[in-house]
Amino acid sequence: MTQTQNILVTGATGTVGRQVVAELLTRGHRVRALTRNAAKADLPAGVEVVEGDLTDPDTLTPALEGVTGLHLITFGGAYFAPLQTGPRILELARAAGVRRVTVLHGGEGTPLEDAVRADDGVDWTVLMPVEFMANALEWADGIVTRDEVREPFVSRLSAMVHEGDIGAVAAVALTEEGHGGQEYVITGPEVLTVADKVAAVAGARGRAVSLVELTEEQAVEQWRAAGHTDEVIGFLLEAYGSTPEIGRTVTDTVEKVTGRPARTFRQWAQEHAEAFGPHA
Ligand SMILES: NC(=O)c1ccc[n+]([C@@H]2O[C@H](COP(=O)([O-])OP(=O)(O)OC[C@H]3O[C@@H](n4cnc5c(N)ncnc54)[C@H](OP(=O)(O)O)[C@@H]3O)[C@@H](O)[C@H]2O)c1
Repeated sequence: MTQTQNILVTGATGTVGRQVVAELLTRGHRVRALTRNAAKADLPAGVEVVEGDLTDPDTLTPALEGVTGLHLITFGGAYFAPLQTGPRILELARAAGVRRVTVLHGGEGTPLEDAVRADDGVDWTVLMPVEFMANALEWADGIVTRDEVREPFVSRLSAMVHEGDIGAVAAVALTEEGHGGQEYVITGPEVLTVADKVAAVAGARGRAVSLVELTEEQAVEQWRAAGHTDEVIGFLLEAYGSTPEIGRTVTDTVEKVTGRPARTFRQWAQEHAEAFGPHA
């Protein structure tokens, strides 16, 4: 057990941020969580919830007071708009005494990540997870209402990662020595097809799920109906249609950094079985 430390988590109400918060709490650290709206944050007891906006860095000054570690996201506002405020955030962080920073990679060349990498005043670690297992929650509605998943590119491969493991790697990098200047590609323990994942969800809910393969055109229609922007749709077509090697190659980051094996999708599906409807 390392000494108790004070850590500020941004994006704390998000898929990854909630896991960073949970891991830090489990490890006995004091957690401050940033949100733009404390009334909606719904964070666990023991977390100090503070309001602030990453697009307006000076609002972070009270949140940064007395903090030694800082977890950052690279976007803020509508549609994951890349933050332009990295240099000022880092200036405030250094002034407050922050020594370690983790940043959740949000695609190539985001200004905030570039600013973090250029900062030699802190030990920074770039967290580069592949596809989140939590993305499968997008299937919940179709599974609950029709016992069906509708997806394009069903034979695509993914080394998808449990978001809890991203949180665990972040918590270690924020509180222990030896992770400065590292870029961690974080994956699950196996490479799965869409069909493998659907089978795992069906097993967890105790009821069959059929997989319907969509054409690209049908997929675009479905994503538009779900409210995705053209930019996100373009990204999904690229990421799913020709998944880069990094997205379908297992790394040993989770085990190396946390000392525990990476969690499987089967495990994730069991933990989330309720979201996919009642057992038969
Ligand atoms: N989905 C994937 O498979 C995948 C894979 C690899 C990497 N990624 C990357 O992961 C990131 C998304 O992470 P996520 O899914 O955990 O996010 P998320 O669930 O969409 O959560 C967004 C978070 O950002 C906070 N936020 C947004 N604008 C803010 C601002 N101006 N000031 C302060 N906080 C702000 C929100 O806080 P409040 O609303 O509480 O203020 C919320 O906590 C993206 O960069 C994406 O590229 C995703």
